[in-house]
Amino acid sequence: MKKLLFLSGLAVLASSLCISRAQAPTESSHSVWDGVYTEEQAKRGEPIYQKECASCHGALLTGGESAPALTGGSFQANWNGLTLGDLFDRIRKTMPQSKPGSLTRQQDADVLAFMLSINKFPAGKTELYRQSEMLKEIRFETKKPAEKNQLAFDSCLSRRDQRSSPGSTPFFRASS
Ligand code: HEC
Repeated sequence: MKKLLFLSGLAVLASSLCISRAQAPTESSHSVWDGVYTEEQAKRGEPIYQKECASCHGALLTGGESAPALTGGSFQANWNGLTLGDLFDRIRKTMPQSKPGSLTRQQDADVLAFMLSINKFPAGKTELYRQSEMLKEIRFETKKPAEKNQLAFDSCLSRRDQRSSPGSTPFFRASS
């Protein structure tokens, strides 16, 4: 009986996930996972990075003796939940540490695009903005939001299976 309750609880959960997905088919939110820079821009940013940043942060962005890494777990954890505008401002106002503010907005945006590519965020069709206000609309998120959607989508699929062939769904098998 407990198991049945548990299963129906899961079914309710799954159906509510389906509903929330159905209600929000067009995700209006914007994050680093939406292809917010172009490959070409990242390529432009690389030589600027190597010239202006690599001496401290390392050619592979993995950090140096005194400067932190600009890729990997702790870097991403630092910025998770903030926006690209915050990161852009941080670079504009304090970097390169030896001569802050010496790069143009375009150069900073290109370097940021290069950093995003090294951090394995996908490239897209439009270049990164050069205005902090616009960049503040783009969330820096460590986890790909699509994974959450995919999960909801999978439960919707397994629910459909459940209807067509009762008792033989992965949903049931996994919990028995
Ligand atoms: C002279 C050495 C030096 C150079 C050159 C330099 N940085 Fe830094 N950078 C540092 C140091 C040291 C820190 C950590 C201390 C601080 O926050 O100022 C830092 C911190 C940062 C941070 C914050 C990292 C975090 O996780 O919070 C970012 C982003 C950054 N640098 C980007 C850049 C970029 C982009 C360039 C090139 C345009 C650059 N830096 C050039 C020394 C440098």
